[in-house]
Amino acid sequence: MKREKKTGRAADSADRDQNQDQNRNPSANIQWFPGHMAKARRLLTENLSKVDAVVELLDARAVSSSENPEIDRILKNKPRIVVANKSDLADPAVTSAFVEEYKSRGIRLISVDSRTGADVKTVKAALMELMEEKLSRKKERGMISYTVKTMVVGIPNVGKSTFINRLCGRTAALAGDKPGVTRGEQWLKVDDSIALLDTPGLLWPKFEDRRTGYCLACVGSIKDDILDRAEIASFLLLYILDNYPGVLADKYSLDEEVLIRGGEEEQDGVILSRIGTVGYPALEMAAMKRGCLRKGGAADIERASAMVLDDFRGGKLGRISLDRPVMRSGMCEKTPEGVNAD
Ligand code: G4P
Repeated sequence: MKREKKTGRAADSADRDQNQDQNRNPSANIQWFPGHMAKARRLLTENLSKVDAVVELLDARAVSSSENPEIDRILKNKPRIVVANKSDLADPAVTSAFVEEYKSRGIRLISVDSRTGADVKTVKAALMELMEEKLSRKKERGMISYTVKTMVVGIPNVGKSTFINRLCGRTAALAGDKPGVTRGEQWLKVDDSIALLDTPGLLWPKFEDRRTGYCLACVGSIKDDILDRAEIASFLLLYILDNYPGVLADKYSLDEEVLIRGGEEEQDGVILSRIGTVGYPALEMAAMKRGCLRKGGAADIERASAMVLDDFRGGKLGRISLDRPVMRSGMCEKTPEGVNAD
C-alpha cells in the first residue's frame, strides 16, 4: 500500500498538505498552491548545496508535461540524470522518440519501470558515470571512499518513493551517519557509493497551457477535482481517439459515429476545442455502453469519468503516451488562459 511504502522514507507531508488543501479548493483557480509551493521550493533550494547530483523523475506517459520549469530554475547546472518512470504504462515508440530527442539536446533520458525495477540499475550506473570526474579528483586527493549524495526530485505521484525503494532494495536504510549528512534528513543508502535524499513532490504555480493541466490530471499528479473530472476524461478519450484508434472501440464499444470523429491531427490547440464536440459525446457513449447509468437511464458522467481515468491509470487501455516530442516545437498551441495556480 502506498501509505506503508511512504513510511520507509520521508513522510511526504508536503504532498499530504497539498492533497488536503486541494480538497478544500476544488476550483481551477488553484488557491492552495503558494504555501505548499514555497515549502517544497525552499526544501529543494536548501538541499541543493548539500548534494552532488540530482535525479529528476518524469512520467513516461507525459514526459513534456511533467518537466517542471521550477525544478529547472532551482537546479541550474547541478549534474542531473533525467528518468522517465512508469515506462511500462507508456507507448514504447514514444518513449524511444523522447530518449532520442533528449539526446539531441545533450541530455541522457533513462526510461525505467520502478514497479518491476526494469532499468533502475542503469540510473545508478549513469550516476556514477556522471560523477566520474569528481570521484577521481577526490581519489587523487586521498579520499578512498566517497558517497555521492543525490537528491531525487519530481512532480507528485511520479513514483519517487517507488523508485527510491527499488534502487535501495531491501537494504534501504537511513544514511544519517554519513559525513556531511545531517541526522534527521531523509537520506537513504543505496550502497556505500550512493545516498539518496527524497524531496516532496513539486508542481509549479502556473501551467503555460491547459493541456499540461489535463495531462498531469490524467496521470494523477494533480487532483481530479482541480479541473472538472468529466473534462479530463473527455480530453483523454479524444486524445486516444486521435492517436490510438481502435483502443476505445475494443474497450468501450464506441460506435463508428464517434470513432470517425477522432483521428484528426492534433495541432493549433484544435484538440482543446474538440473536447466538447468529440470527447464528451465519446464519454457519454462509453457510459451507456458500460452501464454507467443514472436512474431513468441517463449516462452517469461522473462514474464514467472515474472509470475511464482509472482504466487509463491502471494501464487497462494499453500503453499510451499523452505527450510527443514534436509538441515541444510548438505544434500544440498553448491556450491563452493557463490553469492559473497563483
Ligand atoms: P511519489 O513518491 O512520487 O508520490 O510516487 P509513489 O512512489 O508513491 O508512486 C505513485 C504511484 O505510482 C503508486 O501507485 C506506485 O505504485 C506507482 N508507480 C511508481 N512507479 C511506477 C512504475 O514505474 N510503473 C507503474 N506502473 N507504477 C508505478 P499507487 O496505486 O498510488 O500505489 P500502490 O498501491 O501501487 O502502492
